[in-house]
Amino acid sequence: MSFRVQPAAPARPNRCQLFGPGSRPAIFEKMATSAADVINLDLEDSVAPDDKPQARRNIIDASHNIDWGTKYLSVRINGLDTPYWYRDVVELLEDGSERIDQIMIPKVGCAADVYAVDALVSAIEAAKGRKKRISLEVIIESAAGIAHVEEIAAASSRLQAMSLGAADFAASMGMATTGIGGTQENYYMLRDGAKYWSDPWHWAQTAIVAACRTHGILPVDGPFGDFSDDEGFRAQALRSATLGMVGKWAIHPKQVTLANEVFTPSEAAVTEAREILAAMEKAKAEGAGATVYKGRLVDIASIRQAEVIVRQAEMIKA
Ligand code: COA
Ligand code: MG
Repeated sequence: MSFRVQPAAPARPNRCQLFGPGSRPAIFEKMATSAADVINLDLEDSVAPDDKPQARRNIIDASHNIDWGTKYLSVRINGLDTPYWYRDVVELLEDGSERIDQIMIPKVGCAADVYAVDALVSAIEAAKGRKKRISLEVIIESAAGIAHVEEIAAASSRLQAMSLGAADFAASMGMATTGIGGTQENYYMLRDGAKYWSDPWHWAQTAIVAACRTHGILPVDGPFGDFSDDEGFRAQALRSATLGMVGKWAIHPKQVTLANEVFTPSEAAVTEAREILAAMEKAKAEGAGATVYKGRLVDIASIRQAEVIVRQAEMIKA
């Protein structure tokens, strides 16, 4: 390990972030009773320009009047290139209740974008005497966002989570696709005439995970647009979990169960992790740094790998 020890990410479950348009208050109660760990009420791209003022009011009302239980309540504001974002922050934090936990900043392109929101949030919190310190999350969904991902991850002590936004990311990168995440028909390798599909999101996800883990932030996979394709969602989520992401968005309620399943370590995985820890305890007692578990090498690094799974399972249980 470097002399600079890797900070832990916030110890709260973030397996599923369920989105809903701020302009559709009829679904807020349903969102509140869903099984998602995080709720994202949206003021950005699911809300038409003329509806922004009313959507702000709907979300402010919902922060006072709806029982959000133990959910982490986040509001997605508009991007810093729009005329809306400052009013989003000002109205939410001047009139919204203390139940609001987090603000999501979309289309972040550099650390200064986070700094700007942090400064405004800090001023309003102080002026209004708000007790709960609002946290921030960002979406990496542009070429600039991925190019500056590490400085963005380091931008604010309020920052808790970072998501990959596949649709805007693809547009910004000029990718030849209209799909929101998942397998892309034209992204394949050929061997002996047979096609093998590869994952065009892989490098961006890995860059996000590395930046997040360096700075103690939760890496999250964003939307999967085709909500009729459960298997496609599951495959994408399994890849994200394998790479170190802790959760995924749901843009339809049916995706919540799928995300929770994938991002909750299975009984089998937890059992195996505990067995590896036990095998290493035994090895250590015998003065060995490595041993054999089910025919394969386990050593002191395996303890750290197994602990990731056990800690995640215990945190979710708690
Ligand atoms: N959260 C909670 N409940 C939701 C919901 C959501 N995001 N979206 C739909 N529902 C409810 C519906 O009200 C309906 O409830 P009912 O059975 O009591 O009538 C049920 O789930 C089934 O909804 P369905 O008819 O399949 O979907 P829809 O046509 O009403 O809405 C979307 C589909 C995609 C428009 C809607 O899910 C949505 O707005 N998703 C979020 C979009 C968003 O926020 N995007 C920004 C981030 S990318
Ligand atoms: Mg977007």
